[in-house]
Amino acid sequence: MTNETDHDTSISKELFFRLSGTGKGIWETNRSQPTTVQLVDQKRFHGEVLDIGCGIADNAIYIASHVNNINLTAIDLVPRAVEVAGEKAQKENVNIQFEVVNMLDDLSKTNLKHHSYDVLLDSAIFHAFSNDERLVYIKNLEYLIKPNGLYIQIVYSEKETRDTIPRRVKKSDLIELFSSQHGWTIESIEDTVYESRPDSPLAPSVQAYLSLIRRTHQI
Ligand SMILES: C[S@@+](CC[C@H](N)C(=O)[O-])C[C@H]1O[C@@H](n2cnc3c(N)ncnc32)[C@H](O)[C@@H]1O
Repeated sequence: MTNETDHDTSISKELFFRLSGTGKGIWETNRSQPTTVQLVDQKRFHGEVLDIGCGIADNAIYIASHVNNINLTAIDLVPRAVEVAGEKAQKENVNIQFEVVNMLDDLSKTNLKHHSYDVLLDSAIFHAFSNDERLVYIKNLEYLIKPNGLYIQIVYSEKETRDTIPRRVKKSDLIELFSSQHGWTIESIEDTVYESRPDSPLAPSVQAYLSLIRRTHQI
């Protein structure tokens, strides 16, 4: 199913390997997303937290330096991004465990723990996936999340009008994919923005959805 804002396509892994960790990715702002700041203020992060597709860890470092008593792990597909993120975290003197992981792989072969995370943060990853990849990704979210855990998703939304963005996610797709039939309960889907690097073509920001999605039962 496609419309003008949403095509069944993925952002190529090659693009992430080329940009992630170089300082040139449009998401590499060197500061936390305002939505993450708001989520920290709302005390959404607790216990075991996993930042999925952490990039250079702008969000993870903000969380680690503003929330007490959490165990934070951050993963990314691109080794260079994880290396840069690790150096930044060390400089900021915050405790984050970093791993290189492809969220479309078999996670039982990684160090990530089964049904162990209270909170999963997905800041601008989901819109990178095709329809088939979405299904693999969601199975992996289900592998990671604790019963009653919270999946927080920030994603480019259909409200964005610039068509240079490959995939802008529809609310109706989120409602279908994260239905109670699949063991999820959507607590809220709100409009927000995802900030871009000030010198990038998508500056200052892209229209986005912030969704809070609870793993209410295992299927
Ligand atoms: C748009 S950036 C967002 C980075 C960070 N979450 C933020 O908001 O600043 C997307 C990140 O997801 C990573 N990524 C893309 N596909 C991935 C996958 N299959 N598994 C893990 N990470 C992935 C990319 O390398 C990139 O660092």
